[in-house]
Amino acid sequence: MEYPFTRKRRLRATQSLRNLTQENSLTVNDLIWPVFILDGFNRTEPIESMPGVERLSVDVLLDKLTPLHHQGLNAIAIFPVVENKHKSDDAAEAWNQEGLVQRAVKTIKSTLPELTVITDVALDPYTSHGQDGIINEKGDILNDVTIKALVMQTLSHAKAGADVVAPSDMMDGRIGAIREALEDKKYHNTAILSYAAKYASVFYGPFRDAVGSATNLGKSSKASYQMNPANGLEAIDEIAMDINEGADMVMVKPGMPYLDIIKTAKDHFNIPICAYQVSGEYAMLQSAINNGYLEEEKAIMEALLCFKRAGTDAILTYYADRVTAWLNQ
Ligand code: PBG
Repeated sequence: MEYPFTRKRRLRATQSLRNLTQENSLTVNDLIWPVFILDGFNRTEPIESMPGVERLSVDVLLDKLTPLHHQGLNAIAIFPVVENKHKSDDAAEAWNQEGLVQRAVKTIKSTLPELTVITDVALDPYTSHGQDGIINEKGDILNDVTIKALVMQTLSHAKAGADVVAPSDMMDGRIGAIREALEDKKYHNTAILSYAAKYASVFYGPFRDAVGSATNLGKSSKASYQMNPANGLEAIDEIAMDINEGADMVMVKPGMPYLDIIKTAKDHFNIPICAYQVSGEYAMLQSAINNGYLEEEKAIMEALLCFKRAGTDAILTYYADRVTAWLNQ
């Protein structure tokens, strides 16, 4: 029908009509909070490139998490800040059962058993060179050797009590190997959230500062395993492979510049699609907010709602703590 019989503005006329006809919404059930953890007690460190986000020791994290969990926050994703003395060429600290992540998972799960704890499976916090995989003398990332290490890392996380393991390394075939090992060791209910479509993105810069891997990585790139930002069809291929190998959920990363990938993934597949509003997206928004160029709550809520519209089931966002509080007001 043409105007004036159809006037799209009729349903925008009042707040209650707008509410009634709203297609998507954001709730606390959509949020996963990524957290940077430190060894020791009572420690808090600001992250320069991510103003408003801190590295925390696990006791401080628990103080913050407990009220958030009571307000409905369901999940966290843990990223360790590993001291240089624990980094090596073979990343052996990654599967140390007494390592920072493994201890943190145990403590958090024993304090907040209902909270979903997601661990990052990748070697970059533990390698002296900052790559997600193990390298040879030439610096090539060795796929199959790395998978063996990732499997050991995964099993140590599962043993510590992680609910979900999230391989973020982009090695080929790692989901199949991890699923097989988990089944073999009777961790039937440990879920795999695969970073299936992870791009070689400049938007990870602040994260590498946050975990202290930027210096180790230096000028090296991750482009031989993370995806080319120019590619879209390839993401669908990657996701299909990971689902086939046993992923329970998949991730698209970064988020906002890649909403088309989320949408296409949602249209193709019937498992949960997660997306990561990465550190660079946080830094962009927060810098504009801190300069007074954007309204904080409105800008953040709009950005996250748009992830939902694109088809995201759960969003990893450094704003999850603030958003949980706002949604509870
Ligand atoms: C590494 C990892 C990265 C992020 C999460 N896990 C960075 C990278 O691939 O170098 C980035 C997250 C962010 O930027 O917020 N396995």
